[in-house]
Parts: sequence; structure tokens; C-alpha cells
Amino acid sequence: MQQVKAVVATAKGEPVSIATVNVPDPGPGEALVKILACGVCHTDLHYREGGISDDFPFLLGHEASGIVESVGPDVSDVAPGDFVILNWRAVCGECRACKRGEAQYCFATHNAKQQMTLGDGTALSPALGIGAFAEKTLVAAGQCTKVDPSARPAAAGLLGCGVMAGLGAAINTGGATRGRSVAVIGCGGVGVAAVAGAVLAGSSPVIAVDIDARKLAAARAAGAMHTIDSSAGDPVEQIKQICAETYPGAEGADIVVEAVGRPETWKQGFYARDLAGTLVLVGVPTPDLTLPELPLIDVFGRGGALKSSWYGDCLPSRDFPMLIDLYQRGRLDLDAFVTEEIALDQVEEAFDRMHDGTVLRSVVVL
Ligand code: APR
Ligand code: ZN
Ligand code: ZN
Repeated sequence: MQQVKAVVATAKGEPVSIATVNVPDPGPGEALVKILACGVCHTDLHYREGGISDDFPFLLGHEASGIVESVGPDVSDVAPGDFVILNWRAVCGECRACKRGEAQYCFATHNAKQQMTLGDGTALSPALGIGAFAEKTLVAAGQCTKVDPSARPAAAGLLGCGVMAGLGAAINTGGATRGRSVAVIGCGGVGVAAVAGAVLAGSSPVIAVDIDARKLAAARAAGAMHTIDSSAGDPVEQIKQICAETYPGAEGADIVVEAVGRPETWKQGFYARDLAGTLVLVGVPTPDLTLPELPLIDVFGRGGALKSSWYGDCLPSRDFPMLIDLYQRGRLDLDAFVTEEIALDQVEEAFDRMHDGTVLRSVVVL
């Protein structure tokens, strides 16, 4: 066992604080990871507000990269010294999705069995099974994906959650590819990543929609070919027009990614689709929200698919090394998502800045 510093959310709505926590040696199938960087995600804030679970105290942080320090018995995929990106969905290999060869739809969690504890022995719940706002954390070996060690840790870690969710929503869930138009509604970290994913996949046109001009500038930097400020009004007609300029007769975008997580933007996305188009919901809605009322005949009459994207339908072992390779070759600008590097004791301030419109991601660097 070792003692390390970690960010702990002790009670609902209380500011987070730094505590010294006990980390057990890795057991069978587990890995101890020295954290190098960890992004601050909305989900961390949701945990600390008690919106996801009442299982306080929590260890927060789940968008991380680090170096494997040691592994327990029965671990063969990673070894001490490996540079890894952590994921919050180690696939189980046993559920129906895994057995069908579609592990991206595995909903079984396969996290570390042992728990980190406070000095008095209180068990800590690692949010999303990670707890990487810490000098070191204990995870299941399947939560570690080895990637090129020369990648910048702060940029690499972002693939562990928000950026992967956006890239994957466009590419894996939406099926963005050449010859298809993509519109992204909501251009925070997740939406800008969806724009980058659509561009990477060769889609055109790629249209970005937001109510904040600064977000539209970030989307343009990520390769968006058109931007629409929807604070001025409903963007649907403009999306249709832009798509029809490229593909005469098109009645909207082939793929719309909704990265806000609200009924009104989901509805915009629904009607901004071309006939037989796909709408992908990737913004995480709060539990009180419901689908907007729509004539069922519109759902039927327009055809296509209404999907949600869970973790960008990613397969870490397939997607992380590939995306790091594209990053290293200058084809995917992960650095653009790192707005600021902060210290471990600045997570609470990063939560404050999350909604001021200037930050795509604050990243704790250790
Ligand atoms: N129309 C278009 N864009 C909107 C609208 C709207 N009505 N309302 C908000 N937005 C934009 C914001 O201006 C912001 O750029 O949506 C974006 C949301 O981005 P972030 O708050 O940075 O969130 P992000 O990390 O990208 O996550 C996307 O998933 O987890 C949830 O709470 C999170 O709702 C957020 C979503
Ligand atoms: Zn499974
Ligand atoms: Zn997250």
C-alpha cells in the first residue's frame, strides 16, 4: 500500500479538497497508474453536486493519461513503464454485446475490485471507476490502453472522455464519411471534437451551430466550413440551405450531432436532418428532461435514425492508438482542446470556470 495526494468530494455540493489517500497494491487484473494529466469534465462536477450517485466520498477525475507503475497477477496487455490512456469502460468480454463482437456496446463495468481509502479507512468511490485527480490511482488493467509515449500527456488524456465522445459521436455513431454532410449543434469541448471528427472522416460540408460566437471560432479552428449563430434564431433553415448548396435536393444534413443535451436543440437536430438522415445525441441531458413532442408522422415520414452515443461508441484499444497516431502526424489537433494546464489543488476553480465560455478543457498536470 502507498499514500498519495488526491482530490476528494466529501459531501453533496461541497467544494472538493485534497486529501492523503491509501492506494492498495494492484490485485489480480489490476494496474497502479502514476497519473501525468487529467482533464476536468462536466461529469466530475455532476458527481460533486450529487447528481449521479450518493456514494460519497468520491475520487474525481476520469480523462487521464499516465505511466503504469505496477501490475497485479494475470495482467498481460500492459506492463510497468507503459504510457497509457485510461478509459471508463473496460469491456467485460462476456456480455451479449461483447460476444457479438460489438464490445463498443458493452454496458458491464469492469473496474478495479479493491478500493482506495481515506486515512481513517473510509472507502472512496472512484467516479466512473477511475479517480485520476490523484498522484496515482488503481484501475482494472482493461482500463489502460498503451499509446505512443511521446504524445503530450495533457492532450492524450482528453481522449479518455469528452474528446473521444465527440469524435466518436460523429465517426462511430453517426457514420461521418466523405460525401456526407454533418451539422454539429453545441460547440463546447464535445461538439468541437465532433466537428474535428467529421473533418477527419472527410465529410463536407461540416456545419457548426452555437449561441456563443467564441465557441463558433473554436469550431472554425477545428475545421468547420460553416458556422451558424443560433442565438439569432432557429438554425434549421440555414443548415438545409448550406447542405442543398453542396448536394442539390438535400433537405438537411446527413448526420446531425446534438452536443448540448437539451430538448429544444434535439428538436432542431431532428428537423435539420436530410430525409433518412441520422441524429446523434451526445450531450448528456439532466434526468429531468424529456423528449420534445413531435408529430409521430414526422418521425415516420422522415425515416432515418435517432441515436445516442455512449462514450462515442469507442473501442479504446482500437481508437486511442489510432487517434494518437493522427495527433502525432498533425492531422488531429488535440492541443487545441487544452485551454489551460492547472495544478491538482485548482480543480474547484476549474469547475467555476467551466461555464464562463472561455474554456474547452482545463487539464490537471502532475
Ligand atoms: N443552441 C446551441 N448551442 C447551445 C445552446 C443552444 N440552445 N445552449 C448551449 N449551447 C452551447 C454552449 O454555448 C456551449 O458551447 O452548447 C455548448 C455546451 O458546451 P459545454 O458546456 O462546454 O459542454 P461539453 O463539455 O461540450 O459537453 C456537452 O454534455 O455533459 C454534457 O453538460 C454537458 O451539456 C453539456 C454537453
Ligand atoms: Zn461486455
Ligand atoms: Zn467525462
